[in-house]
Amino acid sequence: MRFYLAEDYKELSRKAARIIFSQVALKPKSVLGLATGSTPLGMYRELVKIYREEKLSFSDIKTFNLDEYYRISKENPQSYYYYMHKNLFQYVDIDEKNINIPDGEAKDIEGECMRYEEEILKAGGIDLQVLGIGVNGHIGFNEPDLKFEALTHLVELDETTIKANSRFFESQERVPTRAISMGIKTIMHSRKILLLANGAEKVDAIKEALEGEIKPQVPASILQLHPNLTVIADKEASQKLSSSIKNRKYN
Ligand code: GLP
Repeated sequence: MRFYLAEDYKELSRKAARIIFSQVALKPKSVLGLATGSTPLGMYRELVKIYREEKLSFSDIKTFNLDEYYRISKENPQSYYYYMHKNLFQYVDIDEKNINIPDGEAKDIEGECMRYEEEILKAGGIDLQVLGIGVNGHIGFNEPDLKFEALTHLVELDETTIKANSRFFESQERVPTRAISMGIKTIMHSRKILLLANGAEKVDAIKEALEGEIKPQVPASILQLHPNLTVIADKEASQKLSSSIKNRKYN
């Protein structure tokens, strides 16, 4: 694991965008796994800036998003489809056919989950997967207690997740209670993983994930076993991390 301690959110976002930039510069046909939530917003802003100023092209890139609420329409401003277009895709030269997000209105859920897995395989697998972390240690929408071995599947959201995400909705009742999410197994198959955490509310989740026991109750703890994991956390989120993690050399 490589660990990068960022001074603040701005630095975290810049560093993360630089990592994606390098990935794409080295392999223009990269397959990127993308995340939503508040954490990667700054990274997407930085990426758009790099795209404009340094001519980073997304034209050969394929993207796979981690998850989507179920049921939700693409036009719903709370859908992750909408989020991705609003915050990244509308600004860059990505080809719409290279964008993959689970269909939040799929009639045949199982079929949709299988199709998603097949598309990832057809694309040659994910080169770099970006992850945020939930306050309860979830990644994607893989909630505590789900089996580690799951592929893309339908998830019942935790109360804590519904509550945490209600800030984006008019009320808590409006938050969908289910989602389609890549499974832990799908995530772990990515060649590289970039985990981002900022703010004091993530302090326990990141501590448990990186230094706690590896167990399904803390889904992100499985990342300790990934051979190519980079973590970028800001000072607030890193408060409880031991110095052996914080002092790891990042190069
Ligand atoms: C959401 C998403 C996750 C995200 C997490 C943290 O529920 N499904 O992919 O990483 O919650 O969100 P935030 O970055 O807003 O704290």
